Amino acid sequence: MIAQNGPIPLDRYMALCLGHPVHGYYRTRDPLGASGDFTTAPEISQIFGELIGLWAAEVWHAMGRPAPCRLVELGPGRGTLMADALRAVSTALPAFAEAIDLHLVETSPVLRRAQAARLDAAGVPATWHEAAGTVPDGPALILANEFFDALPVRQFERTAQGWCERRVGLAPDGARLVLGLDPDPTPGLPATAGTGAILTLPSVALSEMRRLAGRLARGGGALLCVDYGEVQLGLTDTLQAVRGHRFADPLAAPGEADLTAQVDFGALARAAVEAGARLHGPVTQAEFLGALGLAQRAERLAARARPDQAGAVTEAAARLVDSSRTGMGRLFKVLGVSGPDLTHLPALPSSTLSA
Ligand SMILES: C[S@@+](CC[C@H](N)C(=O)[O-])C[C@H]1O[C@@H](n2cnc3c(N)ncnc32)[C@H](O)[C@@H]1O
Repeated sequence: MIAQNGPIPLDRYMALCLGHPVHGYYRTRDPLGASGDFTTAPEISQIFGELIGLWAAEVWHAMGRPAPCRLVELGPGRGTLMADALRAVSTALPAFAEAIDLHLVETSPVLRRAQAARLDAAGVPATWHEAAGTVPDGPALILANEFFDALPVRQFERTAQGWCERRVGLAPDGARLVLGLDPDPTPGLPATAGTGAILTLPSVALSEMRRLAGRLARGGGALLCVDYGEVQLGLTDTLQAVRGHRFADPLAAPGEADLTAQVDFGALARAAVEAGARLHGPVTQAEFLGALGLAQRAERLAARARPDQAGAVTEAAARLVDSSRTGMGRLFKVLGVSGPDLTHLPALPSSTLSA
């Protein structure tokens, strides 16, 4: 395509690498776990999904216990978070379990099969969607762990002429992909910056957030977004490729590496407020899981585990809230978005961002 028609913008490149119907990264494999490319929180400890299930149950109660209530997960991976959440909910609040109408938004046929197998075992019927827009209207609880970071971004580099869009093209020898710039600057981008600064525009994530927040503002409910990112992203390049649990060159093997960009929580929050929704947080993953009782749950699980497994239970829980510089507990943030009438969401303080 590039050889025939010329360079393509980064969002197009990301969309093809991740979602091409034949060669796309997510269409062709299960990338999760030790044998794959990366590991996510629900795959580290069952406590993650359990606490999120209990969080959803409490929000459902605060919503006035609507029945049915759509429980929606965006990008459910292997279905692990949902299976753990449903198990916790069915003992803690069976009335919520009965009210749940489950919808999974997933483009990967490989992961859809994994989700179906997990949820069949849990005995809960689900409906799958290519996109969230086809989930039926009505009150909804929407969960998204490491979903927004997989959505394609555009990037612009500051030059003497203005902001020029980054594009993926071919090196002169035609043998490898290289990043270049659209020679014509793009008008209307707000930030001023020094030459070489990179501005990331999460165009797909923003339109997704506007749609979801608009839905919650009209029909009620809440969205929980957990992802790696910052409230205020700097003007630096955060596009990254990961393959076999190591960082890789995003252009080296299209469709063979996971491509993500840090989530711009500030921009997502502004999009949600513009669509009429209320914000809660963001807080760090460590703060969120701590407030939901991670330590107490880990202690109980470890006490019930076989002696040779108790240490692993405790270590896995600690990894989720590790607040060192590169720890998940600090890098990952949690943002809640709700309809305007839900004034409080568990473990998420009222947001200072909406002020
Ligand atoms: C990084 S994985 C996270 C999986 C899971 N949430 C977890 O925490 O283990 C990203 C998930 O989003 C899905 N996905 C990626 N892009 C998508 C899109 N545009 N629409 C729907 N699902 C998508 C992937 O197939 C995968 O299930």
